[in-house]
Amino acid sequence: MVAEAERYTAHNYHPLPVVVAEAEGAWVTDVDGRRYLDCLAGYSALNFGHRHPAIIDAAREQLDRVTLTSRAFLHDQFGPFCRELAKLCRADLTLPMNSGAEAVETAIKVARKWGYRVKGVPDGTATIVVAENNFHGRTTTIVSFSTDPDARADYGPYTPGFRIVPYGDAEALAAAVDETTVAVLLEPIQGEAGVLVPPPAYLPAVRRLCTERNVLFVADEIQSGLGRTGDTFACDHEGVVPDLYLLGKALGGGVVPVSAVVGRREVLGVLRPGEHGSTFGGNPLACAVARAVIGLLETGEFQRRARELGAVLHERLGALVGHGVTAVRGRGLWAGVDIDEGLMTGREACYRLAALGVLAKDTHGSTIRLAPPLVVTEDEITFAVDRLAEVLRSA
Ligand SMILES: Cc1ncc(COP(=O)(O)O)c(C=O)c1O
Repeated sequence: MVAEAERYTAHNYHPLPVVVAEAEGAWVTDVDGRRYLDCLAGYSALNFGHRHPAIIDAAREQLDRVTLTSRAFLHDQFGPFCRELAKLCRADLTLPMNSGAEAVETAIKVARKWGYRVKGVPDGTATIVVAENNFHGRTTTIVSFSTDPDARADYGPYTPGFRIVPYGDAEALAAAVDETTVAVLLEPIQGEAGVLVPPPAYLPAVRRLCTERNVLFVADEIQSGLGRTGDTFACDHEGVVPDLYLLGKALGGGVVPVSAVVGRREVLGVLRPGEHGSTFGGNPLACAVARAVIGLLETGEFQRRARELGAVLHERLGALVGHGVTAVRGRGLWAGVDIDEGLMTGREACYRLAALGVLAKDTHGSTIRLAPPLVVTEDEITFAVDRLAEVLRSA
């Protein structure tokens, strides 16, 4: 099966040789019946675990009713989904799309249009300020402002209109904003970069700057949002409310791709019929599944689990610093673990972890990312960290 996948797919990924056949909660089972604790959780698309009963029930029920209408017509899940998601974000309007990258593209279009029609930026001159080491997706416009050569090289000509500043440096950000700037687009915690948490004063400073300079603050919470960090949104930890939330991944409950841009009426209200859209965006199955996800988040249980079990995860990982680990970062059930480069690469660590029954993913050479589903238990966290310790000892 590994060879077949190698042979018949473009090599845009380099997966570990684990072939999953079934999954439930925090565990997956491979085609040979071996079980693995899933400490990646689909890059946070599986925040509620594999096949959470409430999500699967909602999907099944919807499969028996109606699955697709296109946006040419309404359906009975659409209005409730948009209202419930807007309420979760304490915002007015929801614009549903499918993938995370589409949500980012949508926000870029909305911000530019808002800039021309509301802020009064001269046509064709809008700028958006982004951070170094960002990861917002894979479209040609998005990779145009990536600083990762793997993501960007060979895909030009690049979309203009973006200014890149160091992440976590509020002064550099302020210096990059001028009268053409329509938005600041940031991950409140940079996931792909290695789970980088900015200094505590950073996000509030960004919020203040955006308000003072009449610039939209667009928070890409596609990976950091929906419970992962111990609050509904990573921005909540700093008491910051952006102008637009970008959501994806976990919004689809691990069942279907669902993304959304959520914000105030004065911003999202700039779009008129025919100016933006998606055939599958906001389809009945997606809305039914996402409503189940919103229902789970409204209980607060998953945010609480991420907070409490996240403390356990970070305490256990912290004990490995100096024992094969050079640094640990993160928040809630989300950790970037830097492996001592002298011992092994991140990929090698993930390879060995898989052999011991733990699935994780490396990033940028020596870092591994741990983001187990929020249904994980304390014993399972201990199991995962003990396996990591074993891998490091064996080096
Ligand atoms: C912060 C962030 N934004 C956007 C994306 C892109 O999402 P998708 O892969 O669904 O297009 C990702 C994916 O990893 C992400 O982490």
